[in-house]
This record gives sequence, C-alpha cells and structure tokens, in this order.
Amino acid sequence: MVEHHSNNTILITGGAGFIGSNFIPYFLDKHPDIKVVNLDLLTYAGSLKNLEEVEKHPNYTFIKGDICDDLLVKNLFEKYNITGVINFAAESHVDNSIDSPRQFIKTNIEGTFNLLENARIFWKGKNNRFHHISTDEVYGSLGENGFFTEESSYKPNSPYSASKASSDFLVRSYYHTYGMNVVTSNCSNNYGPKQHDEKLIPTIIRSAINGVKIPIYGNGKNIRDWLFVNDHCVGIDSIYHKGKAGETYLLGGNNEYDNLTIAMKICDILDHKMLNKNSSFSDQIQFVEDRLGHDFRYAIDASKITKELNWKALEKFDSGLEKTVDWYLNKYQL
Ligand SMILES: NC(=O)c1ccc[n+]([C@@H]2O[C@H](COP(=O)([O-])OP(=O)(O)OC[C@H]3O[C@@H](n4cnc5c(N)ncnc54)[C@H](O)[C@@H]3O)[C@@H](O)[C@H]2O)c1
Repeated sequence: MVEHHSNNTILITGGAGFIGSNFIPYFLDKHPDIKVVNLDLLTYAGSLKNLEEVEKHPNYTFIKGDICDDLLVKNLFEKYNITGVINFAAESHVDNSIDSPRQFIKTNIEGTFNLLENARIFWKGKNNRFHHISTDEVYGSLGENGFFTEESSYKPNSPYSASKASSDFLVRSYYHTYGMNVVTSNCSNNYGPKQHDEKLIPTIIRSAINGVKIPIYGNGKNIRDWLFVNDHCVGIDSIYHKGKAGETYLLGGNNEYDNLTIAMKICDILDHKMLNKNSSFSDQIQFVEDRLGHDFRYAIDASKITKELNWKALEKFDSGLEKTVDWYLNKYQL
C-alpha cells in the first residue's frame, strides 16, 4: 500500500510519450488530491501537444529534462517533495534499438538506476511507492501455445528488451536490498490515440491514407497481444495504489492477432469510412524484409492482476481499433 501524505506529489517520467500522455490526464482527473510533476526529455518520441488538455491544470507541472541527470532528479525530489514515482521514460522502439542501441542502455538502464537511487536517498526508508513500467518483451518469444506469467523466466532477445530487463532487475534489487516499496508492471503492445507515427498501427493507417505501400515485416505472421491504452492506464493506477511491494504484475488485452490481420482490419475500417474509393486499402499491403531476431509471439496470462486487483481489459479490439483509426484520421486531418 502507498503511504498517505498531506503533500502528495508524484514524479511521472516520460509523460509526454504515448502511454504517459494518456495516463496523466486520467490520473489528475481521478486523484484531485495528488499533484503530478512530469519529467520528460522531449526526445523525438515525446510531444507536449499530447498534453495540451492538462497544460493549465493546477496540479500539473512539466519539467523538460533527462532521467539520467543526477543533479536535476535530486533537485526535483527536494523541490517538490516527491512522494511517489511512476517511470514511463524509455527509448521504446525495437527497430531503433537494433540500429543504434547505445541510447537504450543509457536511458533505460542508467536512467532507471538514477531514479531509484535518488528515491532511495531522498526517501530514507519511507514507504513511498516506486512503480516501474516495463514490457512483456523481457520474456522473449513464445511458440504457437502458452502464455507469459509473472513466473516466466527472462529471455530478452533485442537490445530494447535486454535494456528493459536490466532495468527490471535493478528495480527488483532495490526491493530486496533496501526494502524499497517497488512494483513493476509488464504489459503487452499498447494501441490507441497519441502513439508515435513510427509504430505499427499508426504506420499502417498513415501509409494507407497516403496511398503508399503498407509495409508488413516477413510473412506477417508474428503475433502480439494488443492492450487498449486506456485499459492500461486503469491498470497502472490500480497497481500504483494497491500493488504489493516487490511484486510484478502482467497486463494484457487478451487480443492476439498477427500483423497481417491487424493491417487487414485497419484497411477494412478505412474501406468503410472512405466509400468513394473504388479499391480496397488492403491492395497496398506489401511484405518487407523481416526485423532482425523478430520474436514470433507474445501473449499474456493476466489472471494475477485480475484476481488480486480486480483489473481486466474492457475494450473490445474492434471498437478500440476504430477509435484509434478515428483519432489518426483527425490528426492527419482527413
Ligand atoms: N507502447 C507499448 O506498446 C509498450 C509496451 C510495453 C511496455 N512499454 C513501456 O511503457 C513505457 C512508455 O512507453 P511509450 O510507448 O509511451 O513510449 P514513448 O516512446 O511513446 O514515450 C517515451 C517518453 O519518454 C521520454 N524520454 C525518453 N528518454 C528520456 C530521458 N532520458 N529522460 C526523460 N524522458 C525521456 C520521451 O521524450 C517520450 O516522451 C516505456 O517504458 C516502454 O518500455 C510500452
């Protein structure tokens, strides 16, 4: 459980990215007694446009800066008397980690360490919560059957997942060594509004409406589980407040689809919305050279969080996907 303070100010890192910028408005609205300090470096992946709706919120402060910056993080803990942390900040794109892994090691490992270490020193044994956001990719790849659970062993395959796995281990060590009140959540692929254009679903939508090829890796058979970002936000809030110290929680959407099916579904939605087009958007789908070391399948057994925290993903995939397509059509002003 999280301690209650008269001052309750939580440091959210990476809040200008996809999941963080969906989470902050939800969290401010749900907890009028908690202030949020959002520390984000505004890399290519972060945008303050994602947070326009909370810009003037009395409980919200934005700080541009690096989670690896020791002095900055120390000063933030002191200045705002930080009483909790949720760490979203990361380099998050697997393809970039294959092309240039160095920044992944820095932000994901060193940055998480810097946050943990400053929290440990500033909190001096207080029972404040540190929630680390991680990924199901740390567990490696599944075959046709089976699911990841909290007991699955770590087998990261990409520089991205290896850097996230390392950060998860650091978080774990701060529980076992210092008794810090940490939790880690590992989720499947998120989808929804505000995701960066580089990711699969925005790429499919953008390519389709721009009339260019819709690129699908390999034979399109790689399978992911898809979690609507709003469902994820509800789960994170629940874990932050009620998760057991030292524990890991897996969140999934129970929506396993291969990449080709995702592309076909999006094309189908677009075909219905743009009736004046005389061919299907699916004609633009083209297979391209596969990602190096491409994991075949991820799938999540989320029964622990359902049982312990009464959370489960509620959004149906087809309705979530339609909401996502609508958001991007609006973004691209169509
Ligand atoms: N999106 C997914 O499907 C998914 C799935 C599983 C886990 N995750 C994890 O969830 C978290 C959030 O993912 P996302 O999709 O919102 O990522 P994102 O790439 O959209 O956003 C990351 C944010 O972190 C910021 N950032 C990067 N380096 C920083 C640094 N050194 N200091 C401060 N800020 C920095 C960026 O500016 C950006 O705003 C990540 O830790 C990621 O590993 C995401």
